[in-house]
Amino acid sequence: MKKFYIETFGCQMNVHDSEKVIGTLLNQGYEQVETPEQAELVLYNTCSIRDKAEQKVFHRLQQFKREHGKGKVFGVLGCVAQQEGDRIFERAPHVSLVCGSASYNKLSDLLVQIENGDRRVTGLSLETDETFDTPMTRRDNPHRAYITIIEGCDKSCAYCVVPMTRGPERSRTSESVLEEARRIADAGYTEIQLLGQNVNSYRDPSDRGWDFARLLRAVAETPGIRRVRFTTSHPRDFVKDIIDAIDENPVLCNHVHLPVQSGSSTVLQRMQRLYTRDQYMRRIEWMKSAKRAIAITTDIIVGFPGETEEDYRETLSLLDEVEYDSLFSFKYSRRPNTPALALDDQIPEEEKSRRLSLLQEHQRAIQMRRNSELLGVTEETMVEGFNRATGQWIGRTSRNQTLNFTHAWHPEPGTGDNLIGRYLPVRVTRAGPNSLAGEALLSAN
Ligand code: 5AD
Ligand code: SF4
Repeated sequence: MKKFYIETFGCQMNVHDSEKVIGTLLNQGYEQVETPEQAELVLYNTCSIRDKAEQKVFHRLQQFKREHGKGKVFGVLGCVAQQEGDRIFERAPHVSLVCGSASYNKLSDLLVQIENGDRRVTGLSLETDETFDTPMTRRDNPHRAYITIIEGCDKSCAYCVVPMTRGPERSRTSESVLEEARRIADAGYTEIQLLGQNVNSYRDPSDRGWDFARLLRAVAETPGIRRVRFTTSHPRDFVKDIIDAIDENPVLCNHVHLPVQSGSSTVLQRMQRLYTRDQYMRRIEWMKSAKRAIAITTDIIVGFPGETEEDYRETLSLLDEVEYDSLFSFKYSRRPNTPALALDDQIPEEEKSRRLSLLQEHQRAIQMRRNSELLGVTEETMVEGFNRATGQWIGRTSRNQTLNFTHAWHPEPGTGDNLIGRYLPVRVTRAGPNSLAGEALLSAN
């Protein structure tokens, strides 16, 4: 049996792509192993969103260069593969396979070519109207399953490689999404996470012509599914109907990740984000006035070319105005082939670092305040695991927060029923800026 090893970098789309690649390989008679040393085929599914992410894969490839003589085949998949293409063979001559995500449908064929002795094979075409669908997906998490609903991106944010690395936007038919949801529920999963670079520009290519909110409602009706999440959303395409759907059906988690990137309309315009601060705030107001309190999270880039101190202060004031429950923040990183490369007035690295740490400090206080408001509240929690070091169960709330808790009847695994995968009411008793702790309520168990 041929053995393969795969390491995944980057976002959830990449994690899920790897699950599909693994399923495809297993179906082709490969066996997955835990270390590159044991493998004959070593795959890296790569991310190029920021320079650091891209460097990681070249570092890995260097690490194992000496192994090549021993007959290992190396493959680079994902965003760096698409972005660098044939140049990867120059930088790392021991690589045999380079394949971007828009060509994964051809991966089986490419592997056969390698088995037949081809030294270098590539899958780099972006001209596709297909998504990578396979019934063979080998899912990692036993309770939460990802489903891709849309691939690629038709926006052109000035800083972003994704339109180049993942190709044009293409949606799956609602029927194939719902069919996968039913299969997942039958297999015992209770949570679904719908994935796409921009889920809310989903448009059913079949005659039904459903939009995202319609699909969301239908997925939430899948018998056996208790939670449905989605990521990521673009503010421009975010319509109020999505909030109405969340309000109607508690299966739809009360959490929305809505990347804003900057609080300054001038910077947003230079980023080609297609909305102003006011337009973004209108969407936040929909969420704030929903019947169920919705947790809101975001992504921020600091130090985009030309970002003045005043622009930056507007981002801080936006954080105060929205009061995000959590955020991911990044220093702007120059990426190949992106429109922002041509912009003047790059911000010095030290200044970007200063802005980033100040922003994170600012947000920490907001999160502390937000989380303190949850003290005494009971949240339904999905049990994900047990932490032996702290003696606490690890749970996740519908708001997508980690809520670690103790359970008087089940102090640890092995005592009574297995709690993992179950949904329990947990009362929040302690709050920190990044996590919550509580006690399971026993009566409603
Ligand atoms: N530099 C820094 N951050 C970036 N992101 C995307 N491209 C860049 C870049 N060139 C961030 C955005 C996006 C998140 C996934 O990564 O905030 O929402
Ligand atoms: Fe990284 Fe973007 Fe590719 Fe995801 S889509 S792996 S974030 S470059």
